Amino acid sequence: MAETSSITPQNSTISHVGIIMDGNGRWAVDRGLSRSAGHIQGAKAVKDIISAASHFGLKILTLYAFSTENWNRPKYEVAVLMRLFKSELHKQTAELIHKNVKVRFIGSRARLPKTLVQTMNQLEANTAHNTGLTLQLAINYGGRQDLLEAFKKLAHDVEATKLKPEDITVSDISDALSTGGISDPDLIIRTSGELRLSNFLLWQAAYSEFAFVDKHWPSFNPEDFVDVIENATNRTRRFGGL
Ligand code: IPE
Ligand code: IPE
Ligand code: MG
Repeated sequence: MAETSSITPQNSTISHVGIIMDGNGRWAVDRGLSRSAGHIQGAKAVKDIISAASHFGLKILTLYAFSTENWNRPKYEVAVLMRLFKSELHKQTAELIHKNVKVRFIGSRARLPKTLVQTMNQLEANTAHNTGLTLQLAINYGGRQDLLEAFKKLAHDVEATKLKPEDITVSDISDALSTGGISDPDLIIRTSGELRLSNFLLWQAAYSEFAFVDKHWPSFNPEDFVDVIENATNRTRRFGGL
C-alpha cells in the first residue's frame, strides 16, 4: 500500500481527491446479499480509504455519500443509509480525532434526520482544530443545488448593494459555494464503471483529472487508491496552456 508507492505527498500534484463511491448495491446483488449489506460493506471501504489518505499525506478527500437525487430511492433504503451514516460517524469519531482529520460536511442539512445533523455538527466541532487530512463528506449534496445557493447568496449581496453585478468574479462564485476556501479536486475517482458525474462538484471539477475504476466501491482498497493517484500524478495537466 502507501509505503510501497514511489509517489509521496511532496512529489504528487494531487492534493485533493474526490470520490464518487458507486456500486454498493451491485456488489451485494452479485453475492446474493441485500443492498443494505452492500452499503455496510461500503462503509468499511470508507474507513480504509480515509486511513490510506491520511497515511499518504493527502490534503483533502471529498467523499460523495448521498446525492440530492438519492431521495428518489425506496424509503427503506434511504432510511438504512441515514442510520448507517449516523452510526458510522459515531463509530469513527475517536479514530478520526486520533488521525488528526478535520471533518466538514457539504450538502443541505435541511432534509436530514435531526439526530444525524446533531452528530454531524458535533463531529465538525470536535475536529475543527485538527491539522491533518481535511475530509469533506457530501451528504444530500448536489452540484446544481450548490451553485443555486451560491448564486442566491451573490444575488442577496447585489440586492444589499455590497456587490455590483458587473464586478462578480469567478472567485466570488467559488467562494460562495459550500466548498469555499477548499481547493478544487485535482482528481475525481468513480468506482463501478459508470462514466458520469451524477451532480458531484460540477463547478469545482472544471480541470479535474478523472479516473473510472471498474471495481464496485466495497472492493476498492487502499492499493487501488494509491495506484489511481500514482497514475494521475504522471499525467500532464495543461489547464488550457501549452
Ligand atoms: C453507492 O452505491 C451508494 C450510494 C449512492 C448511496 P449504489 O447504492 O449506487 O450502488 P449501485 O450503483 O446501485 O450498485
Ligand atoms: C452517485 O451514485 C451518488 C453517490 C455515489 C452518492 P448514484 O448511484 O446515485 O448515481 P446514478 O444514479 O447511477 O447516476
Ligand atoms: Mg449507483
